[in-house]
Amino acid sequence: MNFNEGHVPVLLNEFLSRFALLIERRGEACRDRFVDFTFGLGGHSLPLLEKYGWLKITAFDADPLTIARAEQVYKDYVSAGRLTLVNGNFADFDSLIPAADMKNVFGAIADFGISNSQLFEKGRGFSFDDDRSFDMRINQRSEGPSAATVVNEFGEEELSDIFFHLADERLARQIARAVVERRRERPIQTCSQFAEIVRTVYKRNPKIKTGVDFATKAVMALRIFVNSEFDNIKSLLEKASANFVKNSWLFTITFHSNEDRIVKEFIKNESRGCVCPKEVIICRCSHKAGVRAVDRKPAVASAAEMAVNPRSRSAKLRTIEFI
Ligand SMILES: C[S@@+](CC[C@H](N)C(=O)[O-])C[C@H]1O[C@@H](n2cnc3c(N)ncnc32)[C@H](O)[C@@H]1O
Repeated sequence: MNFNEGHVPVLLNEFLSRFALLIERRGEACRDRFVDFTFGLGGHSLPLLEKYGWLKITAFDADPLTIARAEQVYKDYVSAGRLTLVNGNFADFDSLIPAADMKNVFGAIADFGISNSQLFEKGRGFSFDDDRSFDMRINQRSEGPSAATVVNEFGEEELSDIFFHLADERLARQIARAVVERRRERPIQTCSQFAEIVRTVYKRNPKIKTGVDFATKAVMALRIFVNSEFDNIKSLLEKASANFVKNSWLFTITFHSNEDRIVKEFIKNESRGCVCPKEVIICRCSHKAGVRAVDRKPAVASAAEMAVNPRSRSAKLRTIEFI
């Protein structure tokens, strides 16, 4: 089976055109290593490796299964020294990329979240209809709690906070209460059982319409929580600011507003010089702008892409230059 069969990388054309612009602007001097922080099925890296014969890519994925498959499928690129696969968290990239390689990195991409193949693979617990598992950890060998542990062991208030703060779930409190009541009878063992509890809460509130499966936000909140997704994005951005060489670019693709807000705020704060409070007339902070947004607005999917891949509807590509 082709590893990439049916895989549609999000905002690929928009990414490739900006990558070409980066190469054009930086010229020969920078032509060496690119980093793919979220390799997945290689949907963004593969077209680059095919088009730019000089390019070397260091690619991360936190999922050991994804990396094991990539080692097989992309073994020619690996053995030619053009693709280095790393099973690790992108939040730790500063300790995983050798300093000598880091100096030659002229850009990177981070396409956050999980891939469709992870989403639909039964036994991983990511999808509403998974009736086998409720794990949800990208790396099932990691020490953090699985989604099943969270819903069966965390307190009602903690659960409500997770649903509300990580995914803006309007019925967070009612869902947390329903979870606690249900687990008194028997543990919640699969994602499909959890999704059914959430749907029952929504059915009691018929005036609230969502336009998508009622369980969408609560399920997403759990995934974000068990994988520390927002903290990882924040660490990646901070560490990129400290480690990326001047004029290198970071492309980020986000899928929902809370994720995008982290990147947007980072650009807003780090592109400012002085960050003193308004009432301070003469600057005392000596803060210097460290980044610049390459595009004024994020790139979004075309109508044609949305028709082929509805998941791209909410995707945003931002391009950050380190200055
Ligand atoms: C949306 S997919 C990327 C898809 C890829 N761009 C493609 O088109 O094939 C995100 C990938 O990032 C990985 N991932 C998520 N969080 C990660 C983290 N903190 N560190 C490394 N990889 C991570 C997931 O396992 C998943 O394979």
